Amino acid sequence: MNEKAYLELIQIIETHNMHYYVNNEPIITDGEFDALMQKLIQIEEQHPDWIIPQSPTQKVGGTPDQAFTQVSHKYPMLSLSNSFTQSDIEQFIQQVSKAIGDINLTLEPKLDGVALSCIYENRRLVRALTRGDGQVGEDVTHNVRTIQNLPQLLPDDAPEYLEVRGEVVILKADFQNMNQSLSKPFANPRNAASGSLRQLDASITAKRPLRFYAYGVIGDDSQSHSGGMKWLETLRFSIPKPFERLNNAQAIYEYIDTIDAQRASLPYEIDGIVIKVDSLKHRDQMGSRSKSPRWATAFKLKALEASAKVLDISFSVGRTGALTPVATLEPTNVSGVMVSHATLHNIHELNRKDIRIGDTVIIRRAGDVIPEILSPILAKRPNDAKAINPPTHCPSCNTPVVLESTVIRCPNGLNCPEQLEGAIIHFASRPALNIQGLGSKLVHLLCTRGMIKNLNDLFSLTHSDISTLPKMGQKSADNLIQSIQASSHTTLDRLLYGIGIRDCGKDTAKLITQHYLTIEALEAITYQDLLKIKGIGESTAKHVYDYFQNEATYKQFKSLCQHITINIVKKSSNELLGKTFVITGSFSIPRSTIKEKLESMGAKVASQVSAKTDYLIAGEKAGSKYQKAKDLNVPIIDEKDLKNLL
Ligand code: IVH
Repeated sequence: MNEKAYLELIQIIETHNMHYYVNNEPIITDGEFDALMQKLIQIEEQHPDWIIPQSPTQKVGGTPDQAFTQVSHKYPMLSLSNSFTQSDIEQFIQQVSKAIGDINLTLEPKLDGVALSCIYENRRLVRALTRGDGQVGEDVTHNVRTIQNLPQLLPDDAPEYLEVRGEVVILKADFQNMNQSLSKPFANPRNAASGSLRQLDASITAKRPLRFYAYGVIGDDSQSHSGGMKWLETLRFSIPKPFERLNNAQAIYEYIDTIDAQRASLPYEIDGIVIKVDSLKHRDQMGSRSKSPRWATAFKLKALEASAKVLDISFSVGRTGALTPVATLEPTNVSGVMVSHATLHNIHELNRKDIRIGDTVIIRRAGDVIPEILSPILAKRPNDAKAINPPTHCPSCNTPVVLESTVIRCPNGLNCPEQLEGAIIHFASRPALNIQGLGSKLVHLLCTRGMIKNLNDLFSLTHSDISTLPKMGQKSADNLIQSIQASSHTTLDRLLYGIGIRDCGKDTAKLITQHYLTIEALEAITYQDLLKIKGIGESTAKHVYDYFQNEATYKQFKSLCQHITINIVKKSSNELLGKTFVITGSFSIPRSTIKEKLESMGAKVASQVSAKTDYLIAGEKAGSKYQKAKDLNVPIIDEKDLKNLL
């Protein structure tokens, strides 16, 4: 590395900053950007004499946009240093304890939106500024006035001058709804929040569901961050949650693990966890560097997005006949998992996002769901990128397809090979009949060899049929026959879910079978009966009713029932019904298994201990939750007690 290459790296980062902050259209992912920044930081550590004041490490990123009035921040808006590993966190804790000899820290999610400073004078919101370059921000007051959850006026006892800093975001659910109605969709909620906040016409911003979450306050008389946040809540500000006050590394790791596990179900996008010194006096003692305070750090969670090249786009046929456009990608690592396929949901999405073969696209992986394509990177589109025409015939059985609003569907039901395979896989899946050992590869073999043509054929499979299949010895054939037999003793909700009626997920099946306890009662159900069940909508009611009215599906169901024995669940014997559990520490079995088991018995599993918790299940190395449960007198049980309970 020479000085010239260092200066070039700065240029590259500056260009990406411009794409991100000014155009609201990044052309690389956050992960790629972080990697460039880390490289720059490393070089500057090795060659401090090369550092120039224009380096992105010397300012807080982002060039103020000329379209908005520029206003100097009264107090600079700093950024946060990043932590990536446990040892980074340990180092941070050591620095804190060395400086102040005490480690009272707060933890909260790092929301992925746009930083905003809201200034209140005489208890009125008078100005709202974006971060800009940290010293000078853009005045976006006219747009911020449209944010529904941001107080515009404060109560009489609030101080005369107050600055509340926080993040403007669009909640995930609102983003989905909003993006549906835009001709040019945003790639993610953060770009949408940033684009919406920086509209010249506030009436457009008013139509965007922006939300403000406060993470800091200047001008109140709280002695601590936690105190300040509590006080802001009394003034009706929303704050990022869960908010915790912790004092040791183990509890911090546990908090991070919990939030990481909950990430997909949080209402907003987060990209990290912010760890801050709680006492404001201690913060003053520690002070700041040029760009970031010493009293805080952001632990970065794995980036969920990455860029990848589209090699092909084909249509897969689901178990209900819906044709889903699926992109084959150059295998790409996204948050530690190799991804080679991503969904485009439906033809409408494919057209709207205008994804073509040859494009480089942003893909996103969230939790266990199938990765999806967010947007093409137009700057990287090759001249010969190929657009896709919607199919007219089913790729699996060649039947002419039908268009149902945004869904292209093959109407051929179980006569279509891909639908048949999908239906059997669904029927055998864990929440349905739970046929152990019957995975998708085996289903494919059984279907393509014509051994299964519908669900009830499964129960007629013989030992000699199965043992003719490749890699199927006598023992595996025995096991499979046994698990098919075992699964035939099941509950009505599993059966109803397993037969794969459209719009009838496992929760819906549970709801229906709480009211209709036998197969006979199910068959006689009317559309009106179904609508009376709380939680059942018109579409579900129609599909369930039609299934039992339609001659062909009803006949299939009757033949299937000849092989099935329904176990009636006695509700009154279940002591766990409605009880709330929290699980902490490590066990000999995965926590997810414990959670599933408890939920299957009607209990709820929450993530945080509160007065409403009925039991804490504590494994080895239990941390702060254990202490909290003790403080609140919540009964604590160990793995052995748990086994007895179950
Ligand atoms: S505290 C001195 N808390 O992350 C900095 N920041 O690089 C005080 N952010 O631009 C920031 N959630 O906009 C803080 N809970 C949170 C946050 C948060 C998101 C953003 C913030 C800042 C960036 C830090």
